[in-house]
Amino acid sequence: MMREIRMLGVVRPTVALLALAVAACARPVAAPVPSPSPATPVAATSAAAASAPAAGAAARPVAVVPNPNAPKVLVIATGGTIAGVQNAPGTLGAYRAGTLTAEQITASVPELARYARVETEQFSNVASTLVTPEMWVKLAKRINVVLQRGDLAGVVVTHGTDRLEETAFFLYLTVRSSKPVVVVGAQRPATGISPDGPINLLSAVRTAASPKAVQKGVMVVMDDRILSARESRKLYQRTGGFSTGDMGMLGVVASQGPEFFFAPVRRFGERSEFDLDGVDTLPKVELTMSYPGGTGQTFTTNPKGVVVATTGMTAAENATYRALRQTGVVVVTSFTSGENVNGGGGGDGPPPARVDTTAQRDSAQRDSVARPAAAPVPPGVTALHLTATKARILLMVALTKTKDPREIQRIFNEY
Ligand code: SIN
Repeated sequence: MMREIRMLGVVRPTVALLALAVAACARPVAAPVPSPSPATPVAATSAAAASAPAAGAAARPVAVVPNPNAPKVLVIATGGTIAGVQNAPGTLGAYRAGTLTAEQITASVPELARYARVETEQFSNVASTLVTPEMWVKLAKRINVVLQRGDLAGVVVTHGTDRLEETAFFLYLTVRSSKPVVVVGAQRPATGISPDGPINLLSAVRTAASPKAVQKGVMVVMDDRILSARESRKLYQRTGGFSTGDMGMLGVVASQGPEFFFAPVRRFGERSEFDLDGVDTLPKVELTMSYPGGTGQTFTTNPKGVVVATTGMTAAENATYRALRQTGVVVVTSFTSGENVNGGGGGDGPPPARVDTTAQRDSAQRDSVARPAAAPVPPGVTALHLTATKARILLMVALTKTKDPREIQRIFNEY
């Protein structure tokens, strides 16, 4: 039996969800499901919702009339707080992420049926800190396959917010389709007070179902905002915590549906050159930080690439990463804030001469004095307006194609 309360215009089947929560509490945290299960149509929930008795004067059931002609959207669930259940539902208490299933999450939002014919698929059910690069590859491959279905308008991926921006950016680079893919999470568990998961899921499904969302790449929809996956970041751990900084907010999900104001223009989707056929694992790329007095990171076994987050390296850091480049490791520098647009040569002309710090100049002079006849050092690569976390993902993907730093710079200039 399902009882509902109306809140901010969204129907919330609280008792049903709490019942699910109590049942779910008895279960251990679900392990990752390695291979995707076949798509499962969502059971019609609206009829049950409509006939449920009201809990009181303020809690009148609202009939949801499913739209039989609505676009089809596949919701692929991976876990996270959006599937989180508390030991004490309805409190501010702790919870286990990745507990409710894809079907349970979608069934808790009957409004979905107004806008989409929703199918569900359980990819995994984990906290997103357990999501691995191998899982990114499997997920991207799966989405590339399902988007070939002529009857499917788009895909929604439910995901934990801790690692949501990384998965979304990987999909942005590797899903080769013009159809919308929307990644969504929640910062409050499904059983908590005022959960944000239901409204976020509704906004995500409406976006994935919308023809306006075609050719916009992979998006993150959170808190009524439509964000390009290239730019989206988890800035803080509360609702409203996903943003894009100066660039990358594409639109909003208004009461009438998704409204776009901007579109991404760099390479993604159908124009992506990254083909995952034959790729199961990604090249190892490390992420390091430059800081005053830093000497740079060395490794017992060198990775294929290193991304250094820096606003300007010390002489010792320069020397360390120069030596790494000499051994064939591709070194990418990314501005610490991710906001930098200088360098890389991605514009219409060559970049202006860089003003080196004294330390860098001294280091370069020492290098030229100490090693006048040494083989030329492969160039470093500059990331343009990309956080170090995302530069690492682009480098991992680029290294599946080439080890040539000049070609990798071309890739960083285009994506
Ligand atoms: C997670 O990332 O799985 C937990 C945190 C969240 O989803 O907000």
